[in-house]
Amino acid sequence: DCRALILAGGSGTRLWPLSRTLLPKQLLPLNGGESLLQQTVRRTLGVLPPEHVWVVTNEEHVFEVRNQLRTLDPLLDRQVLSEPQGRNTLPAILLGLEPIVRDTPGAIVGVFPSDHMIGDQDGWEAAFGRAQGLARDGWFVTFGIEPNTPETGYGYIARDRALSDGCYAVDRFVEKPDVATAREFVDSGRYYWNSGMFVFGVQPFLEAVQEYQPTLWQWWTGRDERSLTAGYASLPDVSVDYGIMEKVGNQAVVQADFDWDDLGSWEALYRLGEQDSSGCVVQGDVSALDCRDSMLYSQGGKLAAIGLEDMIVVQTRDATLVCSMDAVQKVKNVVQDLKAEG
Ligand code: GDD
Ligand code: MG
Repeated sequence: DCRALILAGGSGTRLWPLSRTLLPKQLLPLNGGESLLQQTVRRTLGVLPPEHVWVVTNEEHVFEVRNQLRTLDPLLDRQVLSEPQGRNTLPAILLGLEPIVRDTPGAIVGVFPSDHMIGDQDGWEAAFGRAQGLARDGWFVTFGIEPNTPETGYGYIARDRALSDGCYAVDRFVEKPDVATAREFVDSGRYYWNSGMFVFGVQPFLEAVQEYQPTLWQWWTGRDERSLTAGYASLPDVSVDYGIMEKVGNQAVVQADFDWDDLGSWEALYRLGEQDSSGCVVQGDVSALDCRDSMLYSQGGKLAAIGLEDMIVVQTRDATLVCSMDAVQKVKNVVQDLKAEG
């Protein structure tokens, strides 16, 4: 009765200018190998048959997503659902739940983002197994990562009493706190980062949507008369974290004992990339001379780099990023400025 629902839309701002092109982070082949999406799907295929794995993506990426999934299993071709426009994770999850509910109304669903790296399959499978058990008992389950910095791009989960070894009831879930609050959370030793993966029973989830998201509920319940994609563009833009997880009770967290990296910045992509003998990660049509410890990436045209050290250079067809390695967190500020300029 378990299903996987993989979210493969959205585009982060921290990986600009890559994230604005047709190949967002989750579809980008890493180290010339599999993309994060392929890795995510492969992970779920370790425990589920392909017809129980669903992928929701934006209309403009359906073609590429299908191509990438076919190489894993031809049956996955039929498992890709397309949203007419990105309306954030909560509408995307509802879209993905539709075929699941039709087939198995009492299903347990694992929701997985496709923008993470997970190091250890066995550890992940064990954690997912425990989460399914908790979800069968009615809990909304998250996976907690031990925090080490007051990162403001994550959700925070406050641990309450232990339910079993490594599993706790949750006191509260706080999405993207400000930095002062995040620091308090980290210092308290009581909070985890939210890994972005969720496991729950479909029925309790839909009840929560009904209670906390009336507009979405109305759209959802009208789906017999018209398709779910009708009216999709005018749905509220709301993430599952703000829209559901900050509001529901009966949450449990499974401590994640597997390696997890959100790959949220160019520095992270550099760190996990395949470094050559001079410490450079090079992709695309690049000529590098006397460069060290740099990420050099071209998606559009020839990139020549000479004498660089600790730099990120990313060239796409119509935008170029040149940034020193220790300033990568500011990339999102630039993107905000660009948006403000229109
Ligand atoms: N199909 C679809 N449609 N997928 C989407 C959409 C959408 O409109 N928006 C985002 N996604 C996908 C992203 O590609 C990613 O795989 C996942 O859903 C999570 O969305 P993000 O936009 O990356 O969320 P976040 O990183 O700000 O925050 C979430 O992840 C953090 C961990 O990385 C939250 O769950 C946080 O609480 C968590 O700490
Ligand atoms: Mg993310």
